Amino acid sequence: SFSLASLRLLLVLFSGATVEQFEQAKTKLSVLKRDPGNEMKLRIYALFKQATQGPCNTPKPGLLDFINKAKWDAWRSLGSLSQDDARQQYCDLIGSLVAAEEGEGGGTASDQAAAKHAGSPAAYETLQVTTEDDITTIRLNRPAKKNAITTEMYNEIIVALQQAAKDESVITVFTGAGDFYCSGNDLTNFTRVPEGGVEDMARQAGDLLRKYVKAYIDFPKPLVAVVNGPAVGISVTVLGLFDLVYATERATFHTPFSQLGQSAEGCSSYTFPKMMGVAKASEMLLFNKKLTAVQACELGLVTEVFPDSSFQSEVWTRLKAYAKLPRNSLVLSKQLIRSVEKERLHAVNDAEVERLLERWTSDECFTAIMSFFQGKAKL
Ligand code: COA
Repeated sequence: SFSLASLRLLLVLFSGATVEQFEQAKTKLSVLKRDPGNEMKLRIYALFKQATQGPCNTPKPGLLDFINKAKWDAWRSLGSLSQDDARQQYCDLIGSLVAAEEGEGGGTASDQAAAKHAGSPAAYETLQVTTEDDITTIRLNRPAKKNAITTEMYNEIIVALQQAAKDESVITVFTGAGDFYCSGNDLTNFTRVPEGGVEDMARQAGDLLRKYVKAYIDFPKPLVAVVNGPAVGISVTVLGLFDLVYATERATFHTPFSQLGQSAEGCSSYTFPKMMGVAKASEMLLFNKKLTAVQACELGLVTEVFPDSSFQSEVWTRLKAYAKLPRNSLVLSKQLIRSVEKERLHAVNDAEVERLLERWTSDECFTAIMSFFQGKAKL
């Protein structure tokens, strides 16, 4: 796989083309004790290639060639960034990794992300997080991938929710950059199998998912989804844990779990039947029915649908007015509503994760994900 060792080897191979700063960064990289994670390694790789060879102009690898495709995507995403800037960013990045390691001495990925964001809320890699007019906005920021949620992104969202829970804002908004709200779990998460094999991958993914959904269940303030376009998978299922869901008429709601050999998460196996009745929930969660925004509104999943042309202005005008309401009154009222359900929601989350652990190691799931990528490769 794409290991730290191979990254070091790459640096050795390319070291002839580097300047002194690079030599230092290379040495620093070799003292890292902890694997910085695939997202970070890809970023390091991309900056290195950009710095030494300039913009990516090699042919795009096939979709099934996951590792090279991920590396190519990372390099390509740097666009026309100059070699000097890439060299500088590369050195800064390695420097910050070394500094983070020296300052922390361990912890989980989201603990590390929390440490990184404690002093600088703007420093997210995959999100844009802002606070303005008493509203904290968490915006998924991978529009080129339709805001599919990578492992790094799950960790960053957990941290962003924890920070928003503590900040002074009155309401928290969740939305997406670009034309999509979110395309759900990034399916390449399943293709990065760690050394411990598929079981290990499933266990790690399960722990992360449990923690992710827990962050929504426990979120103490009003949480609003501004669904700016189509929504898929986990971005739909957790909507049952939001307090308000505003959607553009262009949005659709799709949970293709059985198509992917998987099962429902985000507490939807409980919240969906409760809000829309078993028959309608089953159409979505078992039979992959994709809803329009108007249908989702009729079933109670969406609070209100707006014309696409006026969506942003109408929604934000409304939210800014809501954010002027007394903060504590909102927090306490939300807690009254949530406290009746909280224990049950945690139990549902646990049961759903348990089921998915089994699903992720099943042949049905493996075959379905492979056929998603194969289907794309034929296009
Ligand atoms: N995981 C990984 N990559 C994804 C993704 C996902 N969930 N959703 C979209 N992408 C990537 C595509 O592979 C593509 O990458 P590329 O440009 O490198 O080829 C890019 O995002 C744009 O998507 P594309 O499929 O070209 O756009 P589209 O408008 O034709 O279709 C979707 C968008 C979301 C309908 C389609 O990508 C899709 O079905 N994605 C899978 C959704 C899913 O099943 N999620 C999990 C639910 S449990």
